[in-house]
Amino acid sequence: MLRGKSVLLRPVKRSDVSYFLKWFNDPEVTQYLGLYLPMTEIAEEKFIEELGTTRTKSDVILVIEAIEGDSTKPIGNCGLHEINAKDHNALFGIAIGDKDYWSKGYGLEAARLLINYGFQQLNLHRISSYAFAFNERSIKFHKKLGFREEGRLRQSTFKNGQYHDHVQFGLLRDEWKGL
Ligand SMILES: CC(C)(COP(=O)(O)OP(=O)(O)OC[C@H]1O[C@@H](n2cnc3c(N)ncnc32)[C@H](O)[C@@H]1OP(=O)(O)O)[C@@H](O)C(=O)NCCC(=O)NCCS
Repeated sequence: MLRGKSVLLRPVKRSDVSYFLKWFNDPEVTQYLGLYLPMTEIAEEKFIEELGTTRTKSDVILVIEAIEGDSTKPIGNCGLHEINAKDHNALFGIAIGDKDYWSKGYGLEAARLLINYGFQQLNLHRISSYAFAFNERSIKFHKKLGFREEGRLRQSTFKNGQYHDHVQFGLLRDEWKGL
């Protein structure tokens, strides 16, 4: 478990299925994500099952819980995906699924805990990430974390009747240490 001041990150549990179904079937959340098909209970259960088996070495996915006094509440998840043992890189992803918790600093704190874990414990050299060009909050969020914009995948995603660009970000271990 990774613990900060207002969030903690913990491994996924079977009982998280109900949260995942709620968050990842909410169009206001999924408009910012690559997900586009309705998420079924069976698909979510399989996803969680695989985290403990086939994807153990390639994905670290953690649930973000907000710390509220003595209790905590699941509000989203974040992860390092496609962890590459040769090149020491991985792909970062995050979604605060509970909209009441957007823009209150939880995302930044959760991301800092996970990125630190990636560089200090997984010995990553580089972390990549993507955001849709229209996701202004996510773009500011990445820059605030120290990610550098490295390019744009033009019209790479179709959403809401039109194509959108993806902004590609990268963060190197030395850049993170220097922050
Ligand atoms: C993107 C996301 C992770 C950011 O986390 P968050 O907790 O909402 O954001 P934070 O409060 O930590 O703010 C991070 C920075 O983003 C910027 N930001 C926050 N709210 C913003 C808003 N409404 N509009 C524009 N920028 C905003 C600010 O620069 C902020 O830093 P500051 O307030 O210290 O200046 C979260 O909103 C989320 O999961 N959204 C839905 C799914 C998503 O977009 N995932 C990312 C896909 S790439």
